[in-house]
Amino acid sequence: MSAQKIERRITAPQITARKGGDPIVCLTAYDAPTAAILDEHCDLILVGDSVGMVVHGLTTTVGVTLDMMIMHGQAVMRGSNSALVVVDLPFGYYEDSPERAFHSAARVMRETGCQAVKIESGSYAAETIAYLVERGIPVMSHVGLRPQSMNVLGGFRARGRTEKVADQIVENAIAAAEAGSFAVVVEGVSAELADKVTKAVKIPTIGIGASAGCDGQILVTPDMLGLFSRVPKFVKKYADMEAMVEGAVKTYAAEVKSRDFPGEANTYKFTK
Ligand code: KIV
Repeated sequence: MSAQKIERRITAPQITARKGGDPIVCLTAYDAPTAAILDEHCDLILVGDSVGMVVHGLTTTVGVTLDMMIMHGQAVMRGSNSALVVVDLPFGYYEDSPERAFHSAARVMRETGCQAVKIESGSYAAETIAYLVERGIPVMSHVGLRPQSMNVLGGFRARGRTEKVADQIVENAIAAAEAGSFAVVVEGVSAELADKVTKAVKIPTIGIGASAGCDGQILVTPDMLGLFSRVPKFVKKYADMEAMVEGAVKTYAAEVKSRDFPGEANTYKFTK
């Protein structure tokens, strides 16, 4: 008998099979307790390189390292056992050659146990995607607003305002799908363009700031929980964690100063 825990996670092919069906529910997570809460409600948990901005306080995702992604990927895998877990390959670890992408992705999968990786997919990406998939690594692509390229794009603005750029986004999505991606994230585009991409590819589109017409949706979890006062237009805040945490910390500080905390209920008393 094996002492290993048997996991029954959703698989990448099962996500692909959901094209045009029930919307696919996705969120990001970076730690075990959050992953444990998300697991029951999400088909897919993304360990996004947004971790650099929403956890580590970086201003862009460019400074995120492979070691950071592995550490957060391990935590998310420990906290979940049914959702498909996808880990982002960060900037600088996959773009220059399929071989480098394979070594990065294999390390992520070996050290975290996650089932797939995501790469931001410009026109150069098709060869890399095919190379990874052929070697056993499921790939989720990411088109439209690609945050790792924000220094070239000039910021985090929605993409596809001109016909040329919109056509390029559709072409990138088609190339990523034909190369073997199991799903594609479409970020920061108009509803019309999201619709065009969704119709153009046989794999599910996962929208973020891309309209309800996509096959699934994803948000950065701390954004949708309201941990930050400023969030992009496309984010809906489902909670106000900033106010909740602020209120709790304020009350704690007052009670420490007034010596109301710790009270009787929080104090050990040993009977002899
Ligand atoms: O890094 C991330 O969280 C992402 C999502 C925005 C899709 O790529």
